[in-house]
Amino acid sequence: MTDAVQGDVPRHVAIIMDGNGRWARQRGLARIKGHERGAESIRAVLRACREFGVKYLTLYAISIENWIRPKPEVKALMNLLVRFLRQEAKELHDNKIRLRTIGRTEDLPKQVRKELLKVIDETSGYTGQHLTLALSYGGRMEIAQAARQLAELVKSGKLEPEQIDENAVAAQLYEPELPDPDLLIRTSGEMRVSNFLLWQISYAELYVTDVLWPDFGEKEFAGAIEDYRSRDRRFGGHE
Ligand code: FPP
Repeated sequence: MTDAVQGDVPRHVAIIMDGNGRWARQRGLARIKGHERGAESIRAVLRACREFGVKYLTLYAISIENWIRPKPEVKALMNLLVRFLRQEAKELHDNKIRLRTIGRTEDLPKQVRKELLKVIDETSGYTGQHLTLALSYGGRMEIAQAARQLAELVKSGKLEPEQIDENAVAAQLYEPELPDPDLLIRTSGEMRVSNFLLWQISYAELYVTDVLWPDFGEKEFAGAIEDYRSRDRRFGGHE
């Protein structure tokens, strides 16, 4: 092994899980079959994170733009989310994994939200691993709502405009205690960040693979980590 692959393991990995539809189409299956296999990939990656010592995993599960998909697909995604929560409950408890969400979860159907809040509450004391699902999430919207909250604080006299710095903005994001992602993975080859964690990925390393999300498993995750460890992260500095 060379020095190049001995860098630190990322603390926080964020993933844009793309390509479920294409995976299904290539096999002549309904899109939902791709999403179902995509849920399996989530399980595999969560396990792989544990093996590699990656403490934080954040997944782009549903964007605010996804609501315009055909109604049956949206409904199937909601059902899949509920099934995922039920099936993963034991895994979360056994491994002390804390579940969080970011996004406008108030947009989710009431029953789905209820199930979600239950698991979030039950796992809120865990620190073994941190799984965050972005649900009805949009990065620009997150920053806009942070700006609105800061404006409210100024209006009510609790904050001076001069006190608004990067830390003050970051403190108003959905889950301010999560560290920024070190590595952002996108599957299925698109070179875009698609409105995901716009503030938080400022210094993240990007890794794009042509592999479609349902085919992404432990081996592919290991490849991304190895690539990350060979990077020279300078955070804008020279050395
Ligand atoms: C992108 O594939 C994926 C999504 C829009 C949803 C991600 C959902 C899962 C991985 C499974 C569900 C899991 C939970 C926890 C809800 P795409 O449909 O945009 O693929 P395409 O670009 O090939 O059409």
